[in-house]
Amino acid sequence: MPAHDVLIIGAGLAGQRAALAAADAGATVAIMSKVHPVRSHSVAAAGGINAALNPEDTWESHAFDTVKGSDYLGDQDAIEIMAREAPEEILHLEHIGVTFHRNEHGQLGTRAFGGASQARTYYVADITGQAILHVLYEQLMKYSNQVDRLEEWFTTSLIQDEDGTCVGCIARDIRSGAMEVFTAKNVILASGGCGQAFKPTTNGLIVTGDGISQAYRIGAPLMDMEMVQYHPTCLVENGFLITEGARGEGAHLLNGDGERFMEKYAPNKLELASRDVVSRAEQTEIDEGRGAGPDGVGIYLDVTVVPKKRTLEALREIVNIGKDFAGVDITREPILIRPGQHYIMGGVRTDADGATPVPGLYAAGEVACVSVHGGNRLGANSLLDTLIFGKRAGTHAAERARAMAMPTPKAAEAKRREDVEEIDAIIARPKTGRRISSIKEELGESMNRHCAVFREEDGLRQGLEIVKHLQEEAKTAYIDDRGTVFNQDVLGAIELGYMLDCAEATVVSAIERKESRGAQFRTDFPERNDDEWLKHINVTTNGGDDPAISYSPVTITKWQPEERKY
Ligand code: FUM
Repeated sequence: MPAHDVLIIGAGLAGQRAALAAADAGATVAIMSKVHPVRSHSVAAAGGINAALNPEDTWESHAFDTVKGSDYLGDQDAIEIMAREAPEEILHLEHIGVTFHRNEHGQLGTRAFGGASQARTYYVADITGQAILHVLYEQLMKYSNQVDRLEEWFTTSLIQDEDGTCVGCIARDIRSGAMEVFTAKNVILASGGCGQAFKPTTNGLIVTGDGISQAYRIGAPLMDMEMVQYHPTCLVENGFLITEGARGEGAHLLNGDGERFMEKYAPNKLELASRDVVSRAEQTEIDEGRGAGPDGVGIYLDVTVVPKKRTLEALREIVNIGKDFAGVDITREPILIRPGQHYIMGGVRTDADGATPVPGLYAAGEVACVSVHGGNRLGANSLLDTLIFGKRAGTHAAERARAMAMPTPKAAEAKRREDVEEIDAIIARPKTGRRISSIKEELGESMNRHCAVFREEDGLRQGLEIVKHLQEEAKTAYIDDRGTVFNQDVLGAIELGYMLDCAEATVVSAIERKESRGAQFRTDFPERNDDEWLKHINVTTNGGDDPAISYSPVTITKWQPEERKY
């Protein structure tokens, strides 16, 4: 395989945007993904993408809403960049073919989203992520002479040269089982979050924390890992996402007594308060016995208050999801939902160009923590984050490549053999341990029990014990498929290791933060404590040691912390 200036791992929106930017800057690029790119998880940001594009809106207003949404943990320099660059990116997307909704005057139309002081969410019905993903993929085709697309390749390790610089990766061709070394001047991780470490989650089966763990294993710090977003509207049955666009269009949340309970928790913004606030309100109603549906485990989302014509036009995907996965016609009756894991605000620490503290290693999108979302991400800021910081990472990596020679990593072949042996050993394990799927199930349920909307010290410590125990069990867990062609079973075993790393870093960070801020609500420390905790928590590891904790400052530019009310 030829060496590349820029190797991108992950081909969702962040990866594809990085590839296009790096190619535009003249770099040779490879973009690798364990699935076909249009199956990437970016589709889950269904409801839209934020930008202060209307003349009456301002980037400062968008930035302030984001800072407030983050509960003041977001780095304001990075947030300013994201809000400033957003309008141009939306126009760029439109010019390359994204069919954003237009209003009756033919202008780009917006919908309201949570935590925003203006309706500034641009959308394609309720398939916005998917629509953008397909258009970027078309664009990528134009660069076939400059961008190698490595589809259905699974990364097993990042490789470093003697001084620790990241110089490529080892990956397995899923179709054949062949393992190869990929050398590059720069690697950009764009492989998404780790939602599958939780159950329920809105995240696809592919979202297993691969890049987060791979970076962590070579010494990159993970930041804000305690900040896990629970989306307020996930199907009770299976965690499927019902887009926030529904509330943006006017849908109500009702408890088991038929009460529009958000009036108590967020009298000004009601259902369109930020996600952490709405999810906590729902969970409080459920925990205090006012839940809806069988056993009171859910909350009703009432979309019937939205005109049917508008629902069928603007929310058609959730009309289908309601029918197919809950047997409910949302245009006629309320649907039962509950909070479910949706996103992680934390990830591999980067600067605003996507560079991590490991030379040659970049990250963008959910795998990264810039940190623009701090303690809580606003809905429709995730697509924006992937594109703005994917582009910046691609451009910056291409520039760095221009000034250097292609590395010739000496240890790469030894690392490749090590990974081959590890995979062979997994395949050969006797059927005496536990199944991978049963460990994964226990992990997801434990994280949801101990590290979800409400947390406290004892529960978190129990959660950590369970994660450590599962890490031991994972060492002997067995698989059924002993072949080489499309052996998803063995990849599942490797993914389990990635998820366990992410879960450990998450729980350790949640134990460390002894306050409530954004998505981290500690019932034993219910107040935000800026004096002691207005700082980022970083975790690092040194080849299997326990995670080590350190802190880094939050960058404040314009907006001093104040009480957060919706
Ligand atoms: O609800 C949604 O459509 C999700 C959007 C997002 O996470 O940004």
